[in-house]
Amino acid sequence: MNRTIFHTATTLDGHLATDDDGLAWLFAVPGSDDAEAAFGDFMVGVGAMVMGTATYEWLLRHERLLDAPEKWTAMYGTRPTFVFSSRSLPPIPGADIRLVSGDVRGHSESMRDAAGTGDLWVVGGGDLAGQFIDAGMLDEIRLSIAPVTLGSGKPLLPRVLGADRLTLVAVERAGQFVEVVYEVARPSDEEPRP
Ligand SMILES: NC(=O)c1ccc[n+]([C@@H]2O[C@H](COP(=O)([O-])OP(=O)(O)OC[C@H]3O[C@@H](n4cnc5c(N)ncnc54)[C@H](OP(=O)(O)O)[C@@H]3O)[C@@H](O)[C@H]2O)c1
Repeated sequence: MNRTIFHTATTLDGHLATDDDGLAWLFAVPGSDDAEAAFGDFMVGVGAMVMGTATYEWLLRHERLLDAPEKWTAMYGTRPTFVFSSRSLPPIPGADIRLVSGDVRGHSESMRDAAGTGDLWVVGGGDLAGQFIDAGMLDEIRLSIAPVTLGSGKPLLPRVLGADRLTLVAVERAGQFVEVVYEVARPSDEEPRP
């Protein structure tokens, strides 16, 4: 595996979705073609994916994946996908969905193996990305910042990280979005990552 990357669209005020998991604000941003092209480039390097229950359930609902499972393959190919959940969620026929739970460190080897030579994409939500940071397992944060504020909603990254932990390495404009990339440093007193 190359890198573990939290890549997400976010509002200007640091939300991934509304309180009831709505993403209409994202699809309402005009001219998102440039942002989608940049995302396509990112996906080429992704070997495996990881997400939490709410994100998986949003995809199931929004894309009607249980009725049209071929849409998953069209979007994500055959990439292994780890879903962190304490519940028994329905698998998507034909997709490599692996339900896991508990400490992310306990699954680091299987996620690394599944990603092969590609990157591990932490899709969301923000607390799950935070769990990877807590475990010293996140290398990079890539944000597509939309010109939207929500006032409340699902948080981008509910953790405290100082400038000693985040280094800005790239900034680009993609239509109405600002694409920013930060490298994440592990705390200096932390043991080496598993
Ligand atoms: N803007 C974007 O591009 C973007 C990107 C990603 C996601 N989203 C959206 O943002 C929202 C994120 O929702 P969210 O903040 O609630 O995050 P989430 O990570 O999708 O779901 C959180 C839930 O995942 C389960 N979970 C997380 N860590 C776990 C662990 N270590 N072990 C077992 N279960 C674990 C728990 O649910 P259970 O205990 O109930 O299983 C937890 O309540 C969703 O609506 C999603 O669609 C938007």
